[in-house]
Amino acid sequence: MGQTDDAKILTNCHLATMQAGSAPYGTIHDGAVAVHQGRIQWAGLAAELPETYQGWHRKDLAGRYLLPALIDCHTHLVYGGNRVEEFEQRLNGKSYAELAAAGGGILSTVRATRAASLSELIDVSRPRLQQMAAFGVATIEIKSGYGLNLIDEIKMLEAARALGQETGMRVRTTFLGAHALPEEFAGKSGAYIDHIVSEMLPEIARRGLADAVDVFCEHIGFSLSETRRVLEAAIALDLPVHLHAEQLTNLHGAQMAAELGALSCDHLEYLDEAGAKAMAKAGTVGVILPGAYYFLRETRQPPIQMMLDHGVDLAIATDCNPGSSPTTNLPLMLSMACTLFGLTPEQALTGATRHAAKALGLGDKIGQIAAGFTADLVAWDISSPAELSYGFGQVPKCERV
Ligand code: NIG
Ligand code: FE
Repeated sequence: MGQTDDAKILTNCHLATMQAGSAPYGTIHDGAVAVHQGRIQWAGLAAELPETYQGWHRKDLAGRYLLPALIDCHTHLVYGGNRVEEFEQRLNGKSYAELAAAGGGILSTVRATRAASLSELIDVSRPRLQQMAAFGVATIEIKSGYGLNLIDEIKMLEAARALGQETGMRVRTTFLGAHALPEEFAGKSGAYIDHIVSEMLPEIARRGLADAVDVFCEHIGFSLSETRRVLEAAIALDLPVHLHAEQLTNLHGAQMAAELGALSCDHLEYLDEAGAKAMAKAGTVGVILPGAYYFLRETRQPPIQMMLDHGVDLAIATDCNPGSSPTTNLPLMLSMACTLFGLTPEQALTGATRHAAKALGLGDKIGQIAAGFTADLVAWDISSPAELSYGFGQVPKCERV
């Protein structure tokens, strides 16, 4: 391949390739990367750069660390309003579940999101996405689930798609119609599930607005059998599935979702061994959300070691949402995964790169620096990749290159 305008060699850098089975972080000191048309053509030791690339334009990274761009694989970034009053109420003694049962919680964000127009929703969500980009994120999953009727779920998914287009971030959308029971279906969860399965899901699939489907399987969300109906309907439409599972109680959702081939099960504080075994067997990624654990002041930790022992791949995400994790700071989540849950900085960073890519079904395209992968690359002013997990609440300087 000859040199064209968008062919370049990134030099004078260290690489954390995040490839499995090599040095920690897949590190290559004094590395170089050849990029053409947004794809990595070659990555390795600068001294071994093949002849073919020698004449290409060189970009000097001034000794920085080059990492695959971060991937936030679980967010509810598009929403109206905020829940700061609920935060105060919780610290005055009310629980998250009590507030939800009293019509607050997710339903209060549903009211604010329904009240916002598409362009208002885009406007309030844009700064959150820009903040994420400034923290080195290039791919983000965004769930619906604050509309809870066809029109407002479509509006949320369209807002997510529009934000991706205008910012250049890779946005993967997830339909989470089964996030909470809307007020108009109070006491009739079966009827709401019927509505999702027969009306909302087929229309959203027809419009190509969702890349995946998720359910909040929980005593304050949907039961195991209701969850199964939604996941099976999604799979029948060829949509991959995720699940909010075992966050506040153990309904055995993770085991069921894994047996259905879920890409990921997320939260998992109450996961049991049967669930972990099923996830490992299916290759279902366990997505750990330290922000929600912290902000809801939970005390039950996800069984990290048990999952690792069974061979479950772990990802880390922000869960960015107004009720249980109002943050856009993915590097802070890496730090918290280390300090709260005992992950190593390497496990944490893998969780926001290679394993997060797998959780989105993109494991062969993004999240690693290697030939054939997309050139989503970020240069960091750090002396070791562990620095992404080290300072908490402060993010080292970084630049998309
Ligand atoms: O992932 N668990 C359900 N969904 C979100 C919370 C959403 C909210 O409280 O608004 C979560 O924690
Ligand atoms: Fe969530």
